[in-house]
Amino acid sequence: MSDSPIVLLLSGVNLAILGERQPEVYGTDTLDDHVERARAAADAAGLALEHVQTNHEGELVDAILGARGRCAAIVINPGAFTHYAWSLHDALAAFEGPVVELHLSNPSSREPWRHTSVVAPVAAGTIAGFGGLGYELAIAAVERLLTPPS
Ligand code: DQA
Repeated sequence: MSDSPIVLLLSGVNLAILGERQPEVYGTDTLDDHVERARAAADAAGLALEHVQTNHEGELVDAILGARGRCAAIVINPGAFTHYAWSLHDALAAFEGPVVELHLSNPSSREPWRHTSVVAPVAAGTIAGFGGLGYELAIAAVERLLTPPS
């Protein structure tokens, strides 16, 4: 077993159908494509990547709670849960490592109901609007956040 720090990448509701889902908004890459991008970036940074996708809010909460004391950081694209799932906020608040919020699109430039994120207050930062590149940027952010200042 590798002893590299583990980054937990969480994908929420409706992200399993990326590639087919509104390609004009989310692009044509599949979720697997994005995960592989994140994994390659994590490998290069000496980090191990675990990925969980679920359409169920409680399963995301379980994954977050299961990361406590085990994972070094969380990258989360909650999908529409972003905008109302306070249970994710509370679970992430109980996680001791850095959290990076990630979106393919830029919710701030879309419908008003997407402008609120319940995850943002417990995230170190948000990466949004860069499509698949965001997955690499999120790992770069985690790498930096896990590196103690010299
Ligand atoms: C999303 C943005 C959300 O508003 C939306 O509900 C999604 C995807 C994104 O990655 O751009 O499902 O999180």
